[in-house]
Amino acid sequence: MSRRLLSRREFGARCAALGLSLPAMSALLAVQESAPAFAATGAVTNTAGHTVRLPDGTTVSALGQGAWHLGQGRHPVAVEEEAVRTGISLGMTLIDTSGNYGNGLSEQFVGRVIAGERDRVFLVSKVESDEVSGDGIPRACEASLTRLGTDYLDLYLLHSPVPTRQFSGVVARFEQLRAAGKIRAWGVSNFNLRQMEDLLRVPDGSRCATNQVPYSLHNRRIERDVLPWCTRQNMPVMAYSPLGGDHDLLVRDRTLAQIGAAHGCSAAAVALAWVIRSGHVIAIPESGSPAHTKENAEALSIALTPGDMQTLAAAYPGPFGAT
Ligand SMILES: NC(=O)c1ccc[n+]([C@@H]2O[C@H](COP(=O)([O-])OP(=O)(O)OC[C@H]3O[C@@H](n4cnc5c(N)ncnc54)[C@H](OP(=O)(O)O)[C@@H]3O)[C@@H](O)[C@H]2O)c1
Repeated sequence: MSRRLLSRREFGARCAALGLSLPAMSALLAVQESAPAFAATGAVTNTAGHTVRLPDGTTVSALGQGAWHLGQGRHPVAVEEEAVRTGISLGMTLIDTSGNYGNGLSEQFVGRVIAGERDRVFLVSKVESDEVSGDGIPRACEASLTRLGTDYLDLYLLHSPVPTRQFSGVVARFEQLRAAGKIRAWGVSNFNLRQMEDLLRVPDGSRCATNQVPYSLHNRRIERDVLPWCTRQNMPVMAYSPLGGDHDLLVRDRTLAQIGAAHGCSAAAVALAWVIRSGHVIAIPESGSPAHTKENAEALSIALTPGDMQTLAAAYPGPFGAT
């Protein structure tokens, strides 16, 4: 691929096409010098081929599945199981749950779904901030492993921040679990920029694999600071509520539906393709409906065009305006 420096105008146009703010795009370019961001056709591509690389080199699907409400009667349980199995078969192999989702019912549900195919799945669970004192983290982890019917987690997250003075103790516990083979990696959730900076200052804090935070066309707040900072650290962000969440669903949005019609996919797939556009974000939509899961999986195979990105930026301006 021939390379040359971009003019300021070209750089701005690329930011707009990817729907990224200038700081986010600068960070992205800094860590991704060698990967082509645009196909020759002008279509915007996920430069990492719809996979995302964690800091330890592990590659995961850019599109996973959330399980917050699953196994708790929102849909018939067999339907929900089929939904998640369908997602796995379509490449949505990262599954996100937590010890506190439905008081353990979500983990039990996930455990049933992945029984017999544990190795195909990248399993994420979480420990609560009020469980970290004493031996709370290893105990919570053991309880999660039992409910999930497995002997290791691929990724274990601290669900929400604790006071900074507790960071080193939490990291030390995570590292002990990693050394014992109970977890393969660890990360955090709902951390702001200051907390991320403080985390990286404690011993082994730089082993943090990801920060799971809200991110969607409806909620672009992380573009102001957390997203460009994580990108500079080569640490992917895991986007929760990527469809806007239950109370702010994007799936009936007319702009998204129009773009979807042009690509032969749903509005939901467009919303998700936008979230995972950079190759540095993993999205974890939740669905207990096989039909919805199939729609969501289409986000792995569509390429939004620069025109699509401009339309979306105008409809859903980020913290720096319609970029
Ligand atoms: N770390 C944290 O603090 C945190 C906070 C919130 C969430 N999370 C994680 O992120 C996951 C996803 O977040 P979320 O559940 O808040 O929001 P979301 O994934 O943005 O939205 C879920 C909602 O979208 C619906 N849906 C999914 N696909 C659809 C489609 N193609 N068409 C129409 N509706 C569709 C689902 O209903 P159906 O089931 O009927 O499809 C459900 O009501 C959670 O499961 C959880 O794992 C983490």
